[in-house]
Amino acid sequence: MKRTSFRLRPWQKSDTTSLARYLNNKKIWDNCRDRLPFPYTEDDARTFIDYAVAQQGWNEFCIEIAGEAVGNISFMRGTDVERFNAEVGYWLAEPFWNQAIMGEALQEAMRIYGENSDIKRWFAQVYEGNRASMRVLEKVGFRQVAVLRKACFKNGDFMDLNYFECLKDEWTGK
Ligand SMILES: CC(C)(COP(=O)(O)OP(=O)(O)OC[C@H]1O[C@@H](n2cnc3c(N)ncnc32)[C@H](O)[C@@H]1OP(=O)(O)O)[C@@H](O)C(=O)NCCC(=O)NCCS
Repeated sequence: MKRTSFRLRPWQKSDTTSLARYLNNKKIWDNCRDRLPFPYTEDDARTFIDYAVAQQGWNEFCIEIAGEAVGNISFMRGTDVERFNAEVGYWLAEPFWNQAIMGEALQEAMRIYGENSDIKRWFAQVYEGNRASMRVLEKVGFRQVAVLRKACFKNGDFMDLNYFECLKDEWTGK
């Protein structure tokens, strides 16, 4: 199978239309926090891009394929005693699923973010049933350390939360 090639880059204002088109997808929203708007409009896209470009350092990685913004990888640094942790979040536009893109893209984003930040640890929280996301994390080198039972409430149901971690010093995916 021919590999679809992607590149990682910062978000830019011209991504508004493609971001709004691809992120306005309930299958993506179902696996994200409720604070992600749905339906997802061009105003929402503008708000996100304004936020992303105003960040100090690079912590929102736009995935670009054929000149279009088709996904995001975010690193959300903790505060206080958890300030050396970064929570990883990501989504990819549905037409590109299951082509090994996120596995590769996350690996590359972690390498760049890891080299440019003093964080010690990445973690990710995956909702029950999201096998593709759990597999991405396993491929990249995360370890599942817990199932937090009924820890999240989404779409009117309590669901288990699968908790994954990866220590930067132990990570061999560089
Ligand atoms: C999760 C997501 C980013 C994966 O992106 P992707 O580019 O398709 O991921 P990859 O192709 O690198 O890897 C997916 C893996 O999951 C596997 N997979 C996909 N669907 C699966 C399923 N239903 N059951 C088991 N495995 C599954 C694929 O076979 C692949 O594994 P492999 O490489 O060993 O064959 C994408 O599906 C997405 O954006 N989902 C909605 C948002 C989301 O879930 N974000 C993460 C929140 S924690």
